[in-house]
Amino acid sequence: MTHPSPQSRKGIVLAGGTGSRLYPITLGVSKQLLPIYDKPMIYYPLTVLMLAGIREIAMITTPQDRPQFERTLGDGSQWGITLTYIEQASPDGLAQAYLLAEDFLDGASSAMILGDNIYFGHGLRDLLQSADQVTQGGVVFGYHVVDPEHYGVLDFDAQGQVKAIVEKPTTPPSNYAVTGLYFLDGTASQRARSVTPSARGELEIATLLDSYLQDGHLQVQQMGRGFAWLDTGTHASLLDAGNFVRTLNNRQGLQTGSPDEVAFDNGWIDRAALAARSKIFAKTTYGDYLFKLAQE
Ligand code: G1P
Repeated sequence: MTHPSPQSRKGIVLAGGTGSRLYPITLGVSKQLLPIYDKPMIYYPLTVLMLAGIREIAMITTPQDRPQFERTLGDGSQWGITLTYIEQASPDGLAQAYLLAEDFLDGASSAMILGDNIYFGHGLRDLLQSADQVTQGGVVFGYHVVDPEHYGVLDFDAQGQVKAIVEKPTTPPSNYAVTGLYFLDGTASQRARSVTPSARGELEIATLLDSYLQDGHLQVQQMGRGFAWLDTGTHASLLDAGNFVRTLNNRQGLQTGSPDEVAFDNGWIDRAALAARSKIFAKTTYGDYLFKLAQE
């Protein structure tokens, strides 16, 4: 394996797929553009990458959904970031993202987040920034769930070390799912080329992660119960995620998943730029929130 590149970490948001579990809603619109209460779903994972300090980000979408993503997110300059669009013609698995993004990454380390994963919790920025510090190998996050069979699942040995990640097992070896956020070093694309399709015909992320695991280069960090990792894959869980965000917003008067706020906090945009953004949303409480933030 070649050495990880010294350039700064780049981001990937994987927002392809058919969203068939949300039919008929997603017959005409990308799942990742559906609302999570007051913002499009894609805002939330994008904000996570921004919290990690990442400014160069590729959005992987289907060719037909790409124009809507471009209309929603633009080139990223409103947030002081650069967005590049990459088309995924057919959804052949998560590891395929590293092949599609190979030129974009150009040997850099990366953080890939799935466009339908929602994270919330005290200390999230610290958790992300410490993962960003890991320059060799990979970092993934384990999270206790009631239904591990729907995810990649951690299999621990007697010493509590992770010995395998099993994709959607009928008999899960633990209740710990691997969340859809992967910090990998600059060897990811190279390793992805050796991943062969699974029985369901996909280039599995679990296989790519296994290549790191076998080399002793995969750190698995627990994302504790103080974090919320929400799924948006079904009609019910989509509504639950929206209600979760609404409850937080209403109680705290604070936003979650706002790229505008995080860009401002990070010093990537100034007060005037934030105020200009707030005017676009003047008819919403989101716009009011940004307007006040720009005045403080
Ligand atoms: C994918 C991954 C799985 C991971 C999950 C997180 O599954 O294959 O390992 O746990 O995302 O959301 P999918 O939801 O695409 O079926």
